[in-house]
Amino acid sequence: MIHRFRVDTWIWAFFFVAFATAQEPSCPHGLSANDIAARSELDLTGNTALITGGRSGLGYAIAEALVQQNCTVVIASRSVPENQQAVAKLQALGGDVSYAIFDLEDFSSVEAFAAELTANHSRLDYYFGNAGQGGSGAQPLTVDGYERIFQVNYAAQFLLIERLLPLLRASGEPARILLTGSSSNSLACGSLGMAAGNFQPDVCFDSNSTSGNAMSVLPFDQTGLDAVNSTFDCPPLAGTYPLTKFLMIQLAKEVSRREAEAGNPVYAFSWAPGNIQTDLNPWAACCVGPVEWFGPTCRYQLPYVGPTDDLGNPNPPDPPVPNHWSSPAHGTMSALHAALHAPVTEAGNFYAAYWECEANKGFFPQGMTEQGRMELYEKSLEWVGITQAEEQQLAAPDMMDIEDGAEEVEVGGGEATVAKQEENEDVDNKALESSSDGATGVPIGVSHYSLVLLLAVKLFY
Ligand SMILES: NC(=O)c1ccc[n+]([C@@H]2O[C@H](COP(=O)([O-])OP(=O)(O)OC[C@H]3O[C@@H](n4cnc5c(N)ncnc54)[C@H](OP(=O)(O)O)[C@@H]3O)[C@@H](O)[C@H]2O)c1
Ligand SMILES: *[C@@H]1O[C@H](CO)[C@@H](O)[C@H](O)[C@H]1NC(C)=O
Ligand SMILES: *[C@@H]1O[C@H](CO)[C@@H](O)[C@H](O)[C@H]1NC(C)=O
Ligand SMILES: *[C@@H]1O[C@H](CO)[C@@H](O)[C@H](O)[C@H]1NC(C)=O
Ligand SMILES: *[C@@H]1O[C@H](CO)[C@@H](O)[C@H](O)[C@H]1NC(C)=O
Repeated sequence: MIHRFRVDTWIWAFFFVAFATAQEPSCPHGLSANDIAARSELDLTGNTALITGGRSGLGYAIAEALVQQNCTVVIASRSVPENQQAVAKLQALGGDVSYAIFDLEDFSSVEAFAAELTANHSRLDYYFGNAGQGGSGAQPLTVDGYERIFQVNYAAQFLLIERLLPLLRASGEPARILLTGSSSNSLACGSLGMAAGNFQPDVCFDSNSTSGNAMSVLPFDQTGLDAVNSTFDCPPLAGTYPLTKFLMIQLAKEVSRREAEAGNPVYAFSWAPGNIQTDLNPWAACCVGPVEWFGPTCRYQLPYVGPTDDLGNPNPPDPPVPNHWSSPAHGTMSALHAALHAPVTEAGNFYAAYWECEANKGFFPQGMTEQGRMELYEKSLEWVGITQAEEQQLAAPDMMDIEDGAEEVEVGGGEATVAKQEENEDVDNKALESSSDGATGVPIGVSHYSLVLLLAVKLFY
């Protein structure tokens, strides 16, 4: 019967659409950071984002996507003219953008920067810990006595987060910390000379074995050179860089756990862009000297990244193609996903552009446990010179100061703030639904589709 046949068709159509919807990745390869930001449909007027390293590369692409959503943006790093140029370009797009100067190679500069930012702003909604350097075994040591890459990419990042937390907690809305990790996190144990450049599923960080536990050699005798030195720069070992990125991913998880435990609406995520053409990347030649970018040898150094590159091309290319890179606008899809789409219930997750932002794909825990992360946090406090007493003071701040600050914001734009808050709650609720549905592997979109289609089937019948 024709009638019957039509119903069957609808039912098949339903299954097809449900399947297709369930398969849709969070940040499909074809899209850009701007597309992902636009999909959020968020008007971020009144929200402020700090993006370190926002003058160039990935940070600039993030800034552009946020400006597009009306977010107030502060970029910060060392160089004055480059920051001024970037601000001018972002302002030309209609952005409320400014810059600040500071240097991660010097803890006192980080302290001064955080204090100034806190004096200038009453709230911070998004903090992108994104500035970084490539390389390993950098000499001379920083003024604080650490191997430079370790300090710039991890230790000083930790310090800045500690100092910005009060401002993030004062946001009055769920605030997010987005830390730039890397697909090279798989090589962290190689950084420590513990494996021939490869990831170690269980035995690197937190195993109960007495030898070969990376936690026992951090922080490398205060200099970074004991376990990590320039001789580890070349294959098969991996240098400081992958270790710092691994630690950043762990830090996002631990900051999220701590803030949740304290009942603060601050959520940290980490993300990775893939192999992106930026100024950072001459290091990726792996060995010292002007080696061709990512020749076949170095491509071999990143065997764990993903089945495709950020544009969906087979990865690694076969035969190998030099300069097989993607653009900042593509790589930062995962940062925008983490900032604007990921549910707060997924705080602590890592999102990689290679894996189209599928949670924690491309992340190699290498034995690090929750206990290990707590230990790492304690050690990090020591490395940056924050005492236990000071930390307790930071963790239980003078609430009066912060509440005063939040009220000032509301006086200026009470309605807008409330509207924004409702909007955000809406998003967070959506996110919550999506995550609970996610437990059965079916995104929320499917429920809506199924309702519409079942209704259509009913009407048709
Ligand atoms: N490109 C990739 O393939 C790739 C892959 C994975 C992860 N990442 C990560 O992505 C982030 C951004 O890098 P990118 O690729 O966009 O390269 P980039 O254009 O070189 O950006 C690095 C930024 O960090 C800032 N910076 C460097 N040292 C600093 C310091 N001591 N203090 C303050 N700021 C400092 C630089 O600004 P100033 O020079 O003005 O200080 C620059 O804006 C880094 O964390 C990097 O590790 C990149
Ligand atoms: C940004 O603000 C303008 C002016 O209020 C508004 O017209 C526009 O829709 C906003 N953009 C987004 C993405 O919400
Ligand atoms: C704070 O504001 C002052 C005055 O406008 C400005 O010069 C400075 O760059 C700002 N610093 C930060 C970190 O926001
Ligand atoms: C490590 O040792 C502790 C204490 O003996 C034990 O509770 C824990 O289960 C061990 N962990 C692993 C991974 O074996
Ligand atoms: C660097 O590591 C190599 C290999 O373990 C070691 O022989 C050398 O002494 C180390 N150099 C420094 C400065 O620690």
